This record gives sequence, C-alpha cells and structure tokens, in this order.
Amino acid sequence: MTSYPQPDFKKASDFGGGGKPRSFPIYTAVDDYTNAQLIVPNNKFHDVLEATRAHSELNELPDIAVSPTQGKFLALLAHMKGATHLLEIGTLGAYSTIWFASLNPGMKIVTVENSPRHIKVARENISRSGFEDQIELLQGPGAALLPVVLEDIETGKRPKFDFVFIDADKENNWLYFDIAVKMCAPGACVIVDNVVRGGGLADAELAETDSRVRGSRQVVEEVGRDARVDGVVTMTAGEKGIDGFLMALVK
Ligand code: DHB
Ligand code: MG
Repeated sequence: MTSYPQPDFKKASDFGGGGKPRSFPIYTAVDDYTNAQLIVPNNKFHDVLEATRAHSELNELPDIAVSPTQGKFLALLAHMKGATHLLEIGTLGAYSTIWFASLNPGMKIVTVENSPRHIKVARENISRSGFEDQIELLQGPGAALLPVVLEDIETGKRPKFDFVFIDADKENNWLYFDIAVKMCAPGACVIVDNVVRGGGLADAELAETDSRVRGSRQVVEEVGRDARVDGVVTMTAGEKGIDGFLMALVK
C-alpha cells in the first residue's frame, strides 16, 4: 500500500505558504478515487466539462477553478435548493458555471467577470457547452456592474436570485456579499469560495500582509454580525488543498 505523507503544521504559514490552499498527496488521492467513482461515470456532460477545463488551460487561465468534486458539490447543492436563478460573481473560464447549468436544466445563471481574457475563454466554453440559453455572461467590474443588476431587480426587470456563488477578487468578498443579499429572495443560499485559504483564515498576523486573507476574514466577521443572514464555514480538502466555503442562508 502506498503511504502518503501527512500534513504536519501548527500554523497556517507552515502549512499553506502564505494563505494559499496548498495540496497534499493524500487529499489528491481521495479526490482521484472519488472522481473515478462518482464524478466521471454516468455524467453525459463529462466531455463538455473536460473540454472546458482543457480549453481554459490551453489559454493559460489561472489554475484556480473549482475542482470537479467542488463543482459537482456546488451544483448539487443548488439543485437540492431548487434554485432557478443563480448569480455567479467571478466566471473565470465558466467551469463552475457549466457545472451549475448541466445539473439543472431549469436554472438560469447570470455570471459576472471583469477580465476580457477570461471573458473570451468563458464565451468560447459556454458556446461549445450547449448551455448558452441558460447562461448570461456580463462583463465588467463587479463593484460597478452589480449595482446595475440590483437596480434591475428593484425595478422588476429581473427576478431575485435564490443562489449566489462568489468566487472573484477576495478583497471585495464583503462588498459582493452585501450587495448579493440585497438581490436575493428569502431562503436564498450565498456561498463564498476560498475563505479558508490553507488555514490562513485563522491567522490574524497573515491577514496584515495578505489582502486575500484579509478579505476572507472580513466577510466571515461581517456575516457573523449580519442579522439578514445565518452563516457557517465548512472546510474542504482535496486536489485544491485545504480550503473552504462560507455558506449563508438569507433569512
Ligand atoms: C484563488 C482564487 C480562487 O478563486 C480559488 O478558487 C483559489 C485560489 C486565489 O486567488 O488565490
Ligand atoms: Mg475560487
């Protein structure tokens, strides 16, 4: 039997190398095993999802999309919630977007991305995926674009969202979360990706120098005192290392 080195760490900087969700072979091995059992078989969209990953890699997008297991987890969660209107902040190459669309044909997705380079690849991926009718891709900085979407909702031009996935610039986590809640129907679920950051979340010292850790701590702390929502952080281990989601229910 192969023996895998176990992580041995006392604080986040030993473990994550500066708040990055570093991986360990044992976690990747479990993802590889469960991917083979649960993610690949019986998924008629497997080829579409893999083509999305390959095209993103070919175009040198940063390797920070959700893993297949995380993509399926999030898409199943949105499906279980019965979500029909999903907002995604941070499209990257649209890998998570396509997961959300593929597991739920009744789901309409608005996805927001600022980088023209990411937008180009995302558009190509969405076009190839066959889920174009479910996905509306908006280009621009979230801080400028989201208030326009909010106004559309407030003036009845768009429906409220019942699921939000925030996976963009971590410094703006709280800004995005706060406006997302205003766009949500009661009972909506809001998820923020990558808040645990290899344990960096718990490292106040690291937060002084790492703006992403700072942004993650800010959203956790704000959610803790926000009467509009009820939240929890759940850690994840896998091919992306130790990380985790902040999940919140909009009351
Ligand atoms: C980072 C961003 C992500 O969205 C992610 O999933 C992993 C890492 C980052 O900026 O470090
Ligand atoms: Mg992410």
